Amino acid sequence: MATKNDSRIRVWDLPVRLFHWALVILIATSYFSGRTGGDWMKLHFWSGYAILTLLLFRIAWGFVGSTTARFSDFVKGPAAAFRHIAELVGADRPREAGHNPLGGAMVVVLIFAVLAQVVAGLFSADTDTGVVTGPLSRLIADKWIERATAFHTFWVNVLLVLVGLHVLAAIVYLVWKRQNLIGAMIHGHKPIDDVVRPGQAAPSLRFASGRLALSLLIACAAIVYFIVRWGG
Ligand code: HEM
Repeated sequence: MATKNDSRIRVWDLPVRLFHWALVILIATSYFSGRTGGDWMKLHFWSGYAILTLLLFRIAWGFVGSTTARFSDFVKGPAAAFRHIAELVGADRPREAGHNPLGGAMVVVLIFAVLAQVVAGLFSADTDTGVVTGPLSRLIADKWIERATAFHTFWVNVLLVLVGLHVLAAIVYLVWKRQNLIGAMIHGHKPIDDVVRPGQAAPSLRFASGRLALSLLIACAAIVYFIVRWGG
């Protein structure tokens, strides 16, 4: 059940918020350790495994997690996206408990774009020196390793553009519509006025248990452990 007081409503559960900010820290870690290279590549690998664990967890949580975490809550068709754009450019404000239809589409793009980056990393390697080898690169031919490595090197730029757009969108909502989505992703609550029209009843949101989240996270970490071990 949603916890409410007069002016605010809880919209994001702790797992979604921890997932988000841990992902931000790990992506920054992966980026800088990858650029620096050398001894930092060890950290780059561990950070990549942690990101993969988080992504597997978030995909599972999108099916069994809290109302606003579920894909069914925020993956909407183009009609909903156009309605949202009309609200955005109009004088009124968009009102959503969870992700709006545009934000929801961006969330799916971000999750799978980061996943593509990590999976390519698993198969990447420095074929000249053989010193830095992704754990699954031993399973494929050199020409595929080269392709995976080229993709991993190129795709990071696409990720940077996507993250830039994502942050820009959050700033636009803040400055233009005075809706603080960033604060909500930190403390989990939104002003009721950002969720429903005045006089309307607050939505009834269901929050999944923390124990379920922790069990899923451990299962995802185990899957990543076996994937990494599989490469030998
Ligand atoms: C590496 C950088 C980032 C990545 C990969 C990323 C990815 C994501 C993802 C996947 C979600 C969906 C969360 C979920 O439902 O589980 C999300 C939501 C969100 N992110 Fe980020 N994020 C990044 C950086 C940031 C930063 C720096 C900010 C703030 C300045 C930010 C603000 C937000 C906000 C406000 C939402 C919720 C949007 C909404 O209400 O629909 N993100 N982000």
